Amino acid sequence: MDLNKVFENNKKWIENKLSTSPEYFKELSKGQNPDVLYIGCSDSRVTAEELMGARPGEVFIHRNIANLVNNIDLNVMSVIEYSVVHLEVQHIVICGHYFCGGVKAAMEAKDLGFLNPWLRSIRDVFRYHKAELNAIEDEDERYKRLVELNVQEQCFNVLKVASVQKAIKRRDLKVHGWVVDIHSGELIDLKIDMGGKLAEIMEIYDLGK
Ligand code: CO
Repeated sequence: MDLNKVFENNKKWIENKLSTSPEYFKELSKGQNPDVLYIGCSDSRVTAEELMGARPGEVFIHRNIANLVNNIDLNVMSVIEYSVVHLEVQHIVICGHYFCGGVKAAMEAKDLGFLNPWLRSIRDVFRYHKAELNAIEDEDERYKRLVELNVQEQCFNVLKVASVQKAIKRRDLKVHGWVVDIHSGELIDLKIDMGGKLAEIMEIYDLGK
């Protein structure tokens, strides 16, 4: 990618926006009121806004390697807190993708140095679902299933956050698990049963009213 072109592209983008809506940037500068918090993978192929057809102002976005919600990650926890408490988003989406490099790396017996603790969260997901995953003979299918189970686990991690629990009770905040199929571009709703899991999670992770 030629970085000099980026500034030309930006000028064209501004012209394009203003030609269809002269007040476009004036409106954007008034503030944001997104409905959705999207937590996805940093993978350069999974461009959140583009694949959802979302416009600026519609989706609050956080991306990291393998779309993890780790409760001692100040970054993701701040993003969740800000979007739930201050922006009052109505939906939180965890979006993974098939053939995720982070998930693949966690499946391999390899020392990746500084990345080890980050990837360990994915190895833990493998451990929780060892029986199901080891029963899948096809390696690609096992890899795809771990991507889905990782999304599911991160959704459950979202349910463990105090502000999320309060927003679910008070204003019916919804949590969703999605996967993008890199091979077709298709966005798939995993339709995870959050209600059932929430009850189970609250037995141990209930953080009060
Ligand atoms: Co990825």
